[in-house]
Amino acid sequence: MKSWKLRNIRAAAVLLLLPAALTGCQRQQIPSEQRIHIGVTYYNRNDTYLNELLEHFKQDVKQKEKNAVHIAVTVTDAGGSQKTQDDQVKELIDAGCNVLCVNLVDRSAPSEIIDMAREKGISVIFFNREPVAEDLLQQDGLYYVGADAKESGVMQGELAADWIRENSWIDRNRDGKIQYVVLEGEPGHQDAIIRTENAVETIRNEGIELEKLSYQMANWNRAQAQNRMEQMISQYQNGIELVLANNDDMALGAMDAYKKRNYTESALPVFFGIDGTKEGLQAVMDSRMAGTVYNDKEGQAEAMARLAVALVSGEGMDEIEFEKEKYIYLPYKKVTKENAASLYQENKYDE
Ligand code: GAL
Ligand code: CA
Repeated sequence: MKSWKLRNIRAAAVLLLLPAALTGCQRQQIPSEQRIHIGVTYYNRNDTYLNELLEHFKQDVKQKEKNAVHIAVTVTDAGGSQKTQDDQVKELIDAGCNVLCVNLVDRSAPSEIIDMAREKGISVIFFNREPVAEDLLQQDGLYYVGADAKESGVMQGELAADWIRENSWIDRNRDGKIQYVVLEGEPGHQDAIIRTENAVETIRNEGIELEKLSYQMANWNRAQAQNRMEQMISQYQNGIELVLANNDDMALGAMDAYKKRNYTESALPVFFGIDGTKEGLQAVMDSRMAGTVYNDKEGQAEAMARLAVALVSGEGMDEIEFEKEKYIYLPYKKVTKENAASLYQENKYDE
């Protein structure tokens, strides 16, 4: 069946080429057209931040199309399984992709993908879920686009410390300490533990006394965070003064939990997130969330698009700045009520 199809496709291709060949001698040589086919696979299509990032990516890629350069993008969702993702990469390569953008499910298990790419001589841009350095450094043609987890944790800590200093009433039981809980992303993700550690350390270094009540894992997910937060509210009732979430979706989930319990505004803890998603920025604009840290999805999407096109076309590589020849890290930015609306507008969410 397959070979029958192939033969027919080949026959059709020959037919299409024929008129050009016949008239070729009368025409000037036309530069050959270039086809860039970018295969994308990401760990889970329920992830708000990545969906927003990939929307930007598709738009950026479209803008890079020129007369003689055709760009196609195929995006696949690995549904949380590394095995599925490995199979998808094989299918993407078989479908003619000449560069890959991979958001690993398991960031410690890129070897199958790296092997396939090597066999076919295809470059891979890993993004958002950072492979360990040994894996990335093992061969040419492997890159990473993302952001520095530590920076986001420090910024979240600084935002929280500033806010607590200016709003000392948040120490509701007046014991001189801020009772806090953390909602963490996936275990093993570079952005989970590093964000938490740095946020907490930064607040402490700024001279604010903290008391940890609980840590809960909610895998970046709003519904899971709501559920975990409900458990923590049952346990500590009005005792929670500060909620640090590793991302906006989990901060929003924590707010959902309080809303469900009909907490009045004056009894709520203060919430901080990271990402600056559409709903995250909205929550900062409405003062429901005190602050977030902008995870530059436009910058990361644009860097991925530029790099993908440069890798296939061979043009523009010199203009791209790398760290250690393989890494592109986009800076984070603090978000408060003052700049949330302008970031929201820059994202063109309303269009
Ligand atoms: C983080 C982001 C989270 C989630 C995660 C997925 O950088 O803050 O919201 O998208 O990546 O890997
Ligand atoms: Ca207190």
